[in-house]
Amino acid sequence: MQILVTGGAGFIGSHTVIELIGAGHEVVVIDNLANASPKSLQRVAQIAGHEIPFYQTDIRDRAGLSAVMEQYSFDCCIHFAGLKAVGESVQLPWEYYDNNIAGTLVLLDVMRKHGCKNIIFSSSATVYGDPAEIPITENCPKGQCTNPYGQTKSMLEQIMTDMQKADPEWNVVLLRYFNPIGAHSSGLIGENPNGIPNNLMPYITQVAVGKRDHLNVFGNDYDTPDGTGVRDYIHVVDLAKGHVKALQAVERNCGLAVYNLGTGRGYSVLDVVHAFESSNGLKIPYVIQARRPGDIATCWSDPGKAERELGWKAEHGLEDMCRDSWNWQRNNPNGFDD
Ligand code: NAD
Ligand code: WQD
Repeated sequence: MQILVTGGAGFIGSHTVIELIGAGHEVVVIDNLANASPKSLQRVAQIAGHEIPFYQTDIRDRAGLSAVMEQYSFDCCIHFAGLKAVGESVQLPWEYYDNNIAGTLVLLDVMRKHGCKNIIFSSSATVYGDPAEIPITENCPKGQCTNPYGQTKSMLEQIMTDMQKADPEWNVVLLRYFNPIGAHSSGLIGENPNGIPNNLMPYITQVAVGKRDHLNVFGNDYDTPDGTGVRDYIHVVDLAKGHVKALQAVERNCGLAVYNLGTGRGYSVLDVVHAFESSNGLKIPYVIQARRPGDIATCWSDPGKAERELGWKAEHGLEDMCRDSWNWQRNNPNGFDD
């Protein structure tokens, strides 16, 4: 298939481009590079063995998007482009709604005007809020998001659901990711956060590489086995493969389909610290701090629907995730910067 990947220079997008090419698809990337380096796609080309057609275009730029669409005849769009920092979204709500919601509205409109009505969307477990049930199935009701970032995911799910209902020619696959970590086994691409990392694994790898003194563990008084927050960490390569499998749903005209992409296992913050230490032979000093506002105690998936309907199942365990995250950081202490 010919696939348009928005946000394809970013963390999950770059890994997905590699898996798509490996599966024989033709890929075109657009990204405004707001949160990515052009080097990321150079590294993807190194892994894939050829250049990837790339347009530095903003999804809010209707003319720019149309110009790209006119050159190709896309079968599907995999839509990663978006801003994703939870804390920043509380400070800059307008920017998040503009980028993520207004941007996606432009993208959807340009797509339908060019006859492409197939989209796979990067949603998030954040749409479940404080989940009503654990493990979380796709039938779990959506919850109250505590930040504008989460709201954009929840609202975009609703917008695409309504569009698909009104026009059944659309196939909309909503993929709800749990906590993606890890990196490509080559160590050439990986997560490259700006400034102080918000997320656990990039913070741990920056402690390991000597950029930060210690990890702050946000709360050890949750109702979990060791008191620290429990999450469903998933290797980014498994997640990327989930997108390739999701194309099958599009091919069989699924209409609207929703899938959790997780492993079905929960690990605490301290489990991750200890797994990182034992897989890599390193010590990660940590200090227990107060809870982080907006955090929940426990979040892990029931990924059974994706296995039953798409034949997709995460294959990598926590040790692999810790090894590959460290391999990326160790070989690229400053990410894509020299
Ligand atoms: P990322 O920031 O690495 O990738 C997003 C990419 O989109 C970046 O390369 C950025 O430059 C680009 N982009 C942003 N706004 C754009 C715009 N207006 N026009 C064109 N390009 C734009 O993030 P990621 O971790 O790879 O996440 C990819 C998607 O998955 C995002 O939509 C994110 O919200 C979603 N998601 C991520 C996680 C996670 O923990 N990483 C979890 C759930 C969902
Ligand atoms: C994991 C655990 C923290 C950092 C976020 C978004 C979610 C999704 C994935 C996009 C929690 C603890 C973290 C640190 C810590 N993103 N922690 N010290 O919060 O589950 O999910 O990323 O859609 O929407 O909310 O991930 O990696 O930030 O935190 O103790 O320095 O690690 O409290 O228990 P989270 P995370």
